[in-house]
Amino acid sequence: MKERHCIFSIFGATGDLTSRKLLPAFYFMEQENQLKDSFRIICIARKQKNTDEYRKEAYESIKKHSRIKVNDTILDKLLSRIHYHRLEFSNEADYMSLKSEIERISGGVCSHCERIFYLAVPPQFFGIIARNLKHLKLAGKSTQENVYNRVMFEKPFGHDLASARELNRAITRVFTENQIYRIDHYMAKELVQNMLVLRFANSIFEPLWNKEYIDHIQITVAETLGVEGRGDYYDRAGALRDVMQNHMMQLLTLVGMEDPKFLDVEGVRKQKIKVLKSIKINKSDIKKIAVKGQYSHGEVNGSKLAGYLEEPEVGKNSKTETYAALKLNIGNDMWNDVPFYLRTGKRLKDRATEIVIVYKDVPFGLFSKSHPERNMMKIRVQPYEGITLQFNAKVPGNKFVIDNVNMDFCHECQFGPNSPEAYERLLFDVMNGDQTLFTSWSEVEHAWKIIDPLIKSFKEMPPSKYEPGTRGPKEADELIEKDGRKWVEPKKPSYADQLGG
Ligand code: BG6
Repeated sequence: MKERHCIFSIFGATGDLTSRKLLPAFYFMEQENQLKDSFRIICIARKQKNTDEYRKEAYESIKKHSRIKVNDTILDKLLSRIHYHRLEFSNEADYMSLKSEIERISGGVCSHCERIFYLAVPPQFFGIIARNLKHLKLAGKSTQENVYNRVMFEKPFGHDLASARELNRAITRVFTENQIYRIDHYMAKELVQNMLVLRFANSIFEPLWNKEYIDHIQITVAETLGVEGRGDYYDRAGALRDVMQNHMMQLLTLVGMEDPKFLDVEGVRKQKIKVLKSIKINKSDIKKIAVKGQYSHGEVNGSKLAGYLEEPEVGKNSKTETYAALKLNIGNDMWNDVPFYLRTGKRLKDRATEIVIVYKDVPFGLFSKSHPERNMMKIRVQPYEGITLQFNAKVPGNKFVIDNVNMDFCHECQFGPNSPEAYERLLFDVMNGDQTLFTSWSEVEHAWKIIDPLIKSFKEMPPSKYEPGTRGPKEADELIEKDGRKWVEPKKPSYADQLGG
């Protein structure tokens, strides 16, 4: 059978995402022979330039940002697949010429080719682009004819529940859910994907993964960076919208979901949605379960750092949170009354994304007088990807003195340093029609239902200040300490030096 052409159109192709992430990811795929001969990329943007000029820029971007060594022959092959097309997002005539371009590139057979549209543009353009693609019959709902149309886009999936619904309506007027690929790049992180295997392929962990054995769970997404030139966006977003609603809710669902029985997209999504639906937040409890913080100015390693309010494009009296901590309860049979403590923030002491499972004490304590520490499993998503099991052992000597010891799994030591970059995996999956690592509308909607009341109440709350290079505001410590627990702070694992990190 003749190979089906695949035309990958990137809207917003002169932006940062395309040059830093998408083009280098395509280079990797070219090197791995993952692109079929007829695969072509149309880079679309408003700037006036021609294909040769764009190819030159793409050459530079790939040389600069590729995570693997660039071979010129392979790069030339990739560049020959790239075409530039100038287009005003709202001008229908420009889409007519885009259609002719697609027909030309695919040799006039594109009524049946695979068409993937990547919207690397601000969300306010999604609706208009989708509408124009539909008018020109470049895209349409999943039917026999359009089954090979797909659309990809990134967060923010709305600003709140109402705007997310509006955005979804605009997209679903043109595409059906099985054609929509909502990217959450956390889902493509190797250790996040590993969660399913860790949980459901290990009989030493799976039976203990519930409220009978687990005391509580902590999820941390900590960053050392500040808002890095994105003050305008960030000041309208804040940590709840920027990270909590998406990346952290995805981590939470993977930790909290029940056994999906089958590893297909529907099975996994159904279980993730069940977790989100089981989280109920009482408005009157918000002050007790949520902490809002904002970084002040300070000094880290001898460098003076601006406070959030001094960052460019941030309102001088802004109350936007750069830190948020939450205590959530998943009110189902598996987890009821096992607190999930979540925290995320910018300008903190370490860059670390970690999930910590803290197990209950042994029920009848033969060694309780020695106060052994609780067993823990630390899943290190980044950096130092790996898993640490912390348990108790006897210290050599005549008495039963107990100390906690660690068993480390170092992902890179075992599998090598070359885990695929998130976009390499995501682009591969969209081309193969696999939605498992993408977020469904229902997940987005239910995550907003959790975050919306928090956003409303944060609006009224003054943020607690914290200094750069610390672990966040002291109120976040109080949140967990009042329950007789404490945050497990990220630590370098024993293998850190081996990684040169
Ligand atoms: C993005 C947020 O989605 O995730 C950023 O908009 C944040 O503010 C980033 O810095 C964190 O991603 P990573 O992969 O660096 O942990």
